[in-house]
Amino acid sequence: MSKRLKSEYDLVIVGSGIAGLSFALKVAEAGYRVAIFTKKDKAESNTNYAQGGIAAVTSAGDDLEKHVVDTMEAGDGLCDSQVVREVLKDGPERIKDLIQLGVSFSSLDDGRISLGKEGGHSKRRVLHVKDVTGKAIEKALLSNIAKQGVTLFEHFFAIDLVTSRKARKLGVKVEGSGDRVMGLYLYDANKERVVTVAAPIVLLATGGAGQTYLYTTNPSIATGDGVAMASRAGLPAMNLEFIQFHPTTLHSQCGDRFLITEAVRGEGVKLIDSKRKPFLKKYHPLADLAPRDVVARAIDREMKRSGAPFVRLDTPRMKGSFPKRFPNVYENCLKQGVDAVIDPIPVVPAAHYSCGGIPTEIDCSTKLKGLFACGEVACTGLHGANRLASNSLLEAVVMAHRGAEAVCSFLQDRKKEKVFLPEWVDGDVPASDERVVLSHNLDELKRTMWDYVGIVRSTKRLERARSRLRNLEREINEYYWNAKVDLSLLEVRNLVCVAELIVRSALKRKESRGLHYTLDYPHLAEEAENTLVPPLRR
Ligand code: FAD
Ligand code: SIN
Repeated sequence: MSKRLKSEYDLVIVGSGIAGLSFALKVAEAGYRVAIFTKKDKAESNTNYAQGGIAAVTSAGDDLEKHVVDTMEAGDGLCDSQVVREVLKDGPERIKDLIQLGVSFSSLDDGRISLGKEGGHSKRRVLHVKDVTGKAIEKALLSNIAKQGVTLFEHFFAIDLVTSRKARKLGVKVEGSGDRVMGLYLYDANKERVVTVAAPIVLLATGGAGQTYLYTTNPSIATGDGVAMASRAGLPAMNLEFIQFHPTTLHSQCGDRFLITEAVRGEGVKLIDSKRKPFLKKYHPLADLAPRDVVARAIDREMKRSGAPFVRLDTPRMKGSFPKRFPNVYENCLKQGVDAVIDPIPVVPAAHYSCGGIPTEIDCSTKLKGLFACGEVACTGLHGANRLASNSLLEAVVMAHRGAEAVCSFLQDRKKEKVFLPEWVDGDVPASDERVVLSHNLDELKRTMWDYVGIVRSTKRLERARSRLRNLEREINEYYWNAKVDLSLLEVRNLVCVAELIVRSALKRKESRGLHYTLDYPHLAEEAENTLVPPLRR
């Protein structure tokens, strides 16, 4: 069955983090009708938790070339140099935009902008709002999209893209040939029903996939939905083996991993081992400010060597200045019983950022006509095999600006048409019947990824992960096709899809590069190549 639908919006965006909101703002400013659908409360995103800040060249002692070199060195030979240059070049302008939108970056006593330093940066260049940069950016963007008349729907979960290929397969007559996006299926959690939305352009701005791992800095929304949707719509995934583990998250018994920003090390704090001695010098000339992959691996090795469950950040070195510079971190540590002015903070690495994703051009377009991707869900070539700290907020605002320009010119040339979309068919088994099984599936998935697809990998471990994930995938999909849709089911279906894509990517890479370190191929291959994993159409 199909239904004629009016495209009420010129652009439909999935996700209300920095990428989705920045993109919406620019397209709405050009006079187009924009809607954002987001699966939880509007501010709930990775963006909202960003601490360290946003990297850009804004001081006299710094220059574009230095930022380019730092980004490429962190990326371990896999960055696309043209993309790096283009994105970083636009940084200072986009920072001005953020200031104009009301983001008030922290400043020094003499009025100059305060610049933080993080791993891999040769200069101080990270603009920040104390240690709550993401919250300040999210707030400013949300208040501005409201003024521009963007419609924002909370608690709407994007399930799948409707493509012309899928519509034809279901017997719906579609004008023209070739594949393109026609709209989306969304689960309206308020009314517990699925709605179909027609749109000539869809932007996926769904963020990362940290929830594929047992321990992560990411909030619960980070379930890789965009990558899974794109894969089911026929797109490959790129460089997904490069999962960035943040070296320093607060070690707690409950399993939550609160981030301790790398900017703490930028202020001279060192990581110390079980004998309270600094140890990073052994691993890299930049010691505690080496790129993240190096620091996370060094911590992993020190913990395995000593048998200690964590290493420590020697924050008492900062004395009374710690709470002033890092109030959010200080408060959160206190809540867990650690006074960082007196006691070094116990830290462990945790899954943090996905360097890979949906391959896009520098204007956010993908290989599927009408589908755009921006932010952490996309793989632009900027990060290569390891993202330089604080380059992701920057990438999101720069790419949103460029993508919005491309979308506006696409909309200008668009010929309006009647759209018929296949109707959603729901299963009849109540989801609650299998909730316990699904929750066990989820635990197994996260544990499998943590144990076998972590900081140090091997072919045997990856193959073991692949076979466990295949079983889980079979069970979850069988259930999906019979059950009524339900949020936990939709998320676990996406998580297993993304986990499988990560493992497939990791198995394809027969070398150690950046964040992908495998005992079976401990060296760099001669040629640096991107990994493309074909779509999982299920
Ligand atoms: P997000 O901000 O994650 O937004 C994704 C949005 O999509 C959310 O609104 C989510 O609800 C929605 N969504 C997802 N799936 C669906 C679906 N199926 N249907 C509907 N909606 C959906 N980077 C830096 O550059 N500097 C930093 O200092 C920094 N600190 C960080 C600290 C932490 C704790 C974390 C977790 C990350 C940090 N990062 C930092 C990384 C950075 O925050 C993210 O990469 C960036 O915010 C991603 O922005 P985004 O807009 O792509 O995605
Ligand atoms: C941090 O503040 O350490 C996180 C920065 C980032 O992920 O870029």
